[in-house]
Amino acid sequence: MSHLHSHTSLKLTRRLRRLRHSESIRALVRETRLSPDMFALPLFVCGGEGVRREISSMPGVFNLSVDETVKEVQAARGEGVRSVILFGLPDRKDDIGSSAYDPEAPVQSAVRAIKRESPDTLVMTDVCLCEYTDHGHCGVIIDDEIANDPTVDQLVRTAVSHAAAGADIVAPSDMMDGRVGAIRSALDERGFENVAIMSYAAKYWSAFYGPFREAADSAPKFGDRRSHQMDPANAREALREVEQDIAEGADIIMVKPALLYLDVITRVKERFNMPTAAYHVSGEYAMLKAAARNGWIDEPRAMMETLTSIARAGSDIILTYYAREAARMLA
Ligand code: PBG
Repeated sequence: MSHLHSHTSLKLTRRLRRLRHSESIRALVRETRLSPDMFALPLFVCGGEGVRREISSMPGVFNLSVDETVKEVQAARGEGVRSVILFGLPDRKDDIGSSAYDPEAPVQSAVRAIKRESPDTLVMTDVCLCEYTDHGHCGVIIDDEIANDPTVDQLVRTAVSHAAAGADIVAPSDMMDGRVGAIRSALDERGFENVAIMSYAAKYWSAFYGPFREAADSAPKFGDRRSHQMDPANAREALREVEQDIAEGADIIMVKPALLYLDVITRVKERFNMPTAAYHVSGEYAMLKAAARNGWIDEPRAMMETLTSIARAGSDIILTYYAREAARMLA
C-alpha cells in the first residue's frame, strides 16, 4: 500500500521472526522432533481366525485375531513402528478374570506369534483384569469393593503369563497399590529379570476411555473406577503415585490420558527424569477422527500437532492409535 512506502524501520536488536523465515531455518531450530521410534501402537487381540472388525467409535482401529494381529504388526514394522501394546478380548469371562493368565488366551498367543514372525518388534502387554471379569471391573470384588491385595495376586499371575509368552514389557494399568513391586519380584523369581515394567503410574478417572471400552468390551456393568483411578483435579498426587511406582521398580512410568494432562507429564518428567510415556487415549483419538470426518479440521496437521505437543510436554514414548498414520507422515 502506497501510504506505507515511507515508513521507518524499527531498530530492533531481536527479530524472532527471522528464525521462522523458511522451512529450512524452521527445521534447523526445531525443538521437538517426532520419530516413529517413540510410538507404541495399541492392538486389540481377539479369538478366531481371519477376524478384522473395525471399532465403530475408532475408525482405523480393529479387533484382530492372532493371525491378523501378526499382519498388522508386520505392516506397522514396515512403516517404522517397532513397538506394540496388546489388549485382549477373551472368549470367556468370570468374576476373578482368570482368562487373563490363560496361556492359550489371545494376548499370550499373539505375543508368541509376533515374537516368532517379527522378532525385532517390541511387545508390550497391558496387564489389567477389566477385559476379563464378567462385571467389567479391574479387580476382584469382595463385599462390593475392588479388593486391592487379591487383585494384585491376579495381576501378578497375568504379568508372569505374558512374560512367559515372551513379552518384553508388561504394563499394569489397574491402579492397585503395590502391584509394581509384586510383579517385579514375581518376574525376578522366575528368571524374567530382563522383562521391563511400564506402569500406568498416573492414570486418571477419565471420560475419554469411552471408545476403548467398546474396543476391549470392558465397560463396568455397575459403578465406576473412581475408587482406584485418579481424580482429574489432582496433580501433586500424580507425583506421589509415580514416586511409589519408581520405588517399587517401574522402569518406565506413564501418564494417561495425554492431551488433557500435559501439565502432569511435564511435572513428572522434570521431577523424576525417568523414561516417561503418555497414552493418547481412545477418546482423544475419536474426537480428532470425528472432527476430521466432518471436514472440521485438517486431520494430518491436527494429528501431528497433537503428538508434537505430547512430546514437547516431556513424554519420550507415546502410545497412540495414530502410530501408523503418523509414521507414514514422518517417512
Ligand atoms: C485398562 C485400560 C483402559 C485403557 C487402557 N488400559 C481402560 C480403563 O481404564 O477403563 C484405556 C485406553 C484408551 O482409552 O485408549 N485395561
